[in-house]
Formats: sequence, C-alpha cells, structure tokens
Amino acid sequence: MDSDFDTAGAPTDAVRFGRHEPARRTLIHVSDTHLLAGSKRLGDRYDTATNLRAALDAVEGTGIRPDAIVFTGDLADLGEPDAYRALRAAVDPVAARLGAPVVWVAGNHDERPAMRADLLGEAPSQEPIVCVRDLGGLRLIALDTSVPGWHHGDLDPAQLAWLREVLSEPAPLGSIVAMHHPPLPSHIPFFDILELRHQDELAEILAGSDVRAILAGHLHYATSGTFAGIPVSVASATCYTMNLQRPPVEVNGMDAGQSFHLVHVYDDVITHAVVPVADAETADTFSAPWVEKMAALSPAQRLEVFSRKR
Ligand SMILES: [Fe+2]
Ligand SMILES: [Fe+2]
Repeated sequence: MDSDFDTAGAPTDAVRFGRHEPARRTLIHVSDTHLLAGSKRLGDRYDTATNLRAALDAVEGTGIRPDAIVFTGDLADLGEPDAYRALRAAVDPVAARLGAPVVWVAGNHDERPAMRADLLGEAPSQEPIVCVRDLGGLRLIALDTSVPGWHHGDLDPAQLAWLREVLSEPAPLGSIVAMHHPPLPSHIPFFDILELRHQDELAEILAGSDVRAILAGHLHYATSGTFAGIPVSVASATCYTMNLQRPPVEVNGMDAGQSFHLVHVYDDVITHAVVPVADAETADTFSAPWVEKMAALSPAQRLEVFSRKR
C-alpha cells in the first residue's frame, strides 16, 4: 500500500488524490458554424446565427479563459463575405473578453478568397489557409483540407511538404493539428465520398512527430478515433447536427444536440470534453459553499465526505 495511505485505506494529510497537475493549456474547439449572409436560415430550417450565439454564450458560461478558440471549418455555408463579417462580429467580442486568440480553419463550405478578405483581413487568394501558433509552448498547426470547387478534402504535395518542415523541430509542449476533414471513417452511407484524400501521405508525416492530437469537424456529430497512432477528436457543429439515433441510411440533420469541446492539455494526456449547448435546469449540489467546505477539510475528511458509501 502507498505510504500516503494508512492501513485502512484512508489517506494521510500528505496525499493528493488526482495524479495530474492542472492542465498546462486549455483550448475551446468549435466547428461548423455555417453562417449565411443576412442571418438567413440554413435550408430554411436552421437559425445558424442564433445557434452560434447560444454556443458562444455557453463558451463564456464555462468561466474558462482558454489559450485559444479554434474553429475547425465550414465557417460560412456559401463563403459569402457578409457571413464572414457576421462571424467576426459575433466571435471577436467574446474572444476579447476571454483574452484568447482565435484560430480559423477553412472547410469545404468556405471560399478562400472571401475568408481571407472578410474574416482574416488579408489579401484575397486561393492559396491554402494554414498557420502555426505558439500557445505558450504548445504549437497549434492549422491545415487547409478544402479543395476549391469541391466538398471532399485533400492535402496537396506543397502543403504536406510545408507540414513536414514545420514538424521537423518539436515544440516544448508538443503540437496539435487542426483541420476540417477528419482522417477518420464515418458509418453514414456515402460520407466516404467527402472524406480526406491522401491520408497515407499525411500519416507518414505525422507518425513519430510531436503531434499529440488532431482536432477536426465536418461530420456534424462528435466522434473520436486514432490516426497514425494520434488521437483524433471531431467536434460536432453549432449550426445543426446529424441525428445518429436513426439507422445509418436515415441519418439526417436536426436542430438539436449542438456542442463544442473543452480541450485540456496535460503533461501526458489531452482530454476533449463535449459540452452540450443546452438550456437545461441544473442541480446545485456542488455549490460555492460546498466547494469552500471541502477545501477547508483535510484529505482524510474529504475522502470520508465524498467517497464513503452511505
Ligand atoms: Fe459542415
Ligand atoms: Fe464540411
């Protein structure tokens, strides 16, 4: 038995219960906002502007001050300049209040020239929108898997060569890659048509690199897997989500189940918590006075209060 515990399994006052130091970095991972010019409803059904507002309110509601807010693509449904301006108008004040930089990733619904001009404030061009951010030693690499004129994803030799070059030097806290098309399969029929091409080439570059996680979107449902041994976390959408309660051939969109992810970067692990954007009555068990009372107890008393079955 660990010397921090007495013979009855109770802790001595020296014990720490969790085995991790607090997270080194925290990210907010949001995806697929699909805004339209004039706040028009998407497919005459989904109020994507209002749904984004709700998601951003929920982000602020977490009380977390992230090191970055990452949007993994399909920012504007039709790539309209007005939609990009509306997106900035909605997100910029939130990012300013949280003191966090925003990383914008291009998706298949985005149009690079307008995204550059009206979201990033850059000269319009069809060049892939990629970037590298140093978040206090954690390197965030945004790839551009969009293909002008198409909805499937791809990475051309030039972007793959750029990625190989970036990864040739490791970062102090490792790297996270953000991209729109996830390098993962989907069980929904025909979604493979829109999958990312040249995955073998990407895997060869990522294998053995310092990349610790891949953030993606595109599917409009939250899922996870591994690629080249690296955890992949797909955030659902803020606009609408796929109703996976149905048989695969009947899966379709619904105006429910929207969520975003809280990404906590610890020394030896990265967690991706799915945060539902829901207006739900919430219990008050873990109140401020309760937390205060717990904090004042000894470890042994805490174990007794919180772990002992009654
Ligand atoms: Fe999308
Ligand atoms: Fe997409």
